[in-house]
Amino acid sequence: MNEHATRIAVFASGNGSNLQAILDHFDGPAFGVAEVALVVSDKPTAGALDRARARDIPAHVVHHADAPAIERLLDALRIELVVLAGYLKFVPAEVVRAWHGRILNVHPALLPAFGGPGMYGLRVHAAVLAAGARTSGPTVHFVDEQYDHGPVIAQEQVPVLPGDTPQALAARVLEAEHRLYPRVIADVAAGRVRLSSRGEVIGASSPSLSSS
Ligand code: GAR
Repeated sequence: MNEHATRIAVFASGNGSNLQAILDHFDGPAFGVAEVALVVSDKPTAGALDRARARDIPAHVVHHADAPAIERLLDALRIELVVLAGYLKFVPAEVVRAWHGRILNVHPALLPAFGGPGMYGLRVHAAVLAAGARTSGPTVHFVDEQYDHGPVIAQEQVPVLPGDTPQALAARVLEAEHRLYPRVIADVAAGRVRLSSRGEVIGASSPSLSSS
């Protein structure tokens, strides 16, 4: 168990509802396990920046390809774990390599299906519906140098219901993201789950999570 709260950076491009779920989790049930010490966005208008500033968390806009600027911020704020929460850009390869096993992502579909460049927002859910899939749900994975790729830590199954629109399915999956992602972040922060040097996920998420 960690003796101090793991210092997390959240990277977000959008509204930041996952950021909010993470903040709430580490304010509440997982208090002391981790704390959000930095929010980074590629978009000056991202709602996630407002959520951070409202809580006096350092919030910075950085060009997505500016690896030195990203590294400087992570060092300056003594960040230990990076979590992508609706971050729609590539993290520079040198940052991914330097942070092996210390960057997580959440994707709103059951990877490896329905992921990759261009697969974000309602497009993901429209593709799931067009394929006639009966289930969808979020995936949390370690980040590697490919978009929406890398060793899977946990997934949560969400039903696709008759008559679903991309919007309705997106809302159901987002609720599941808010349950799953903060708990997996806590597992990694506490050292219960980690990535081996060979790229294998070691350990399991807490029993309440079905890692399907
Ligand atoms: C979430 O559904 C997240 O899974 C998705 O963006 C949304 C952000 O919502 N990420 C991706 O599609 C990554 N490929 P939020 O800003 O409200 O957390």
